[in-house]
Amino acid sequence: MKLNSPRGTSDIYGEDIEYRDFVIETVRELFKVFGFQEIITPAFEHTEVFSRSIGESTDIVQKEMYTFPDRKGRSLTLRPEGTASIVRSVVEKKMLSSQELPLKLFYIGNMFRYERPQKGRMREFWQIGAEAMGSSEPLIDAEVIWLLSRIFYNLGFKKLQLRINSIGCSQCRGSFIHEFKEYIQPGLGGLCPDCRNRFEANPLRIFDCKKSSCRSIVSGSPKISGFLCPDCRKHLQGVKKILTGLSIEYYIDDSLVRGFDYYTGTIFEMVSHELESAQNALGGGGRYDRLLSEFGGPDMPATGFALGLDRTILVMKELGMGCSRKTGPVKTYMITLSGPGEAYSLEVLRDIREAGIACQVDYASRNIGTGIKKAGKKGFDLAVIIGDEEIHKGCVTIKDLDNFRQYTIDRTRLVKKILEITGVEKNG
Ligand code: HAM
Repeated sequence: MKLNSPRGTSDIYGEDIEYRDFVIETVRELFKVFGFQEIITPAFEHTEVFSRSIGESTDIVQKEMYTFPDRKGRSLTLRPEGTASIVRSVVEKKMLSSQELPLKLFYIGNMFRYERPQKGRMREFWQIGAEAMGSSEPLIDAEVIWLLSRIFYNLGFKKLQLRINSIGCSQCRGSFIHEFKEYIQPGLGGLCPDCRNRFEANPLRIFDCKKSSCRSIVSGSPKISGFLCPDCRKHLQGVKKILTGLSIEYYIDDSLVRGFDYYTGTIFEMVSHELESAQNALGGGGRYDRLLSEFGGPDMPATGFALGLDRTILVMKELGMGCSRKTGPVKTYMITLSGPGEAYSLEVLRDIREAGIACQVDYASRNIGTGIKKAGKKGFDLAVIIGDEEIHKGCVTIKDLDNFRQYTIDRTRLVKKILEITGVEKNG
């Protein structure tokens, strides 16, 4: 019997694991630098956690949730995103009363959406997200956006575009929606069937439709930016000022909307023009100032983002970006002509690993040149080479893969030499 993985899911292995580790290690380091702590929540929740927060009329709740009754008939849903679960948990565990504010949390997890699979769009995919709760200061929006841009910068991205908009508070959005609907009404028949439904249930989502007929109707419409109340306008100005002060480039996109009802105020997206498909958003987020109180928690504001891990890796690979770390533990690669199981090589391997230095063994190459090329490509710092002469003399040859300098030294001095070549800070 031949069984395949379900449509829209993937098995992650080989090179993809290396990319994944690289991205996760990079973000974990940055979360530490920016003061975010990890939270892990269940992969499924009671269905209301998502339907109430994301919004009954959104595409996600209407068409994309994996919802099922458990054996006792309770309706459960595989999480389509992380924010609602985190808010549920923060309120349930009363984290906001016992912690210094803002409470800053991050998560890494698999999400599930019953979408039409295509390049960069999966039914099971992974997100890395961050949520900062308990402050309405523009500084927090800017800090969260700064963190998102820094993640992509540290991963090696050069040309992403950061798009920002404000969708206002319920007050300014109300008067905008009224005007917008008046504008659209005469052209209603030209909208696609989905957008005709959105017109009543969720008119802002019409901005997000990729169909050319809908885009052309919407292109000349009034924009929310013209309707922001003084407070919302001041807040967006504040965020922009801080971003400019941090030298973070952004583009104000007054057509930007997001697919969840919980958003208020400043929203943003990080877009790659290099991905040749509609799935070009690598990450996005924004404020959701009402969600905590809607979940029965304190009336506190919040903001956050999530980036798509699979989509980010896809673009990195398409752009030929590597996944080797410039900092972190020293990584060595052992190449032995007599085979890694030979006693002398095993002793050297033990010396290196017991000193806390990562050492991977080349099990396949029987040629030093090939082994060194492989080590360089995979991002190792040093090649540790053991040929017949090294065994005979009780020494080891090390090749620095940054500058290709080579050292042959006595085995007893090996670990010291590795640390000396790579610099102790790399081991920190
Ligand atoms: P989102 O924009 O729906 O936001 O998802 C964030 C990212 O997840 C997207 O930019 C994309 O890279 C990735 N993504 C979404 N759907 C798929 C899919 N079907 N296949 C592959 N990747 C996908 C949220 O989920 C919000 N919870 C973000 C947030 C956090 N807002 C405030 N805090």
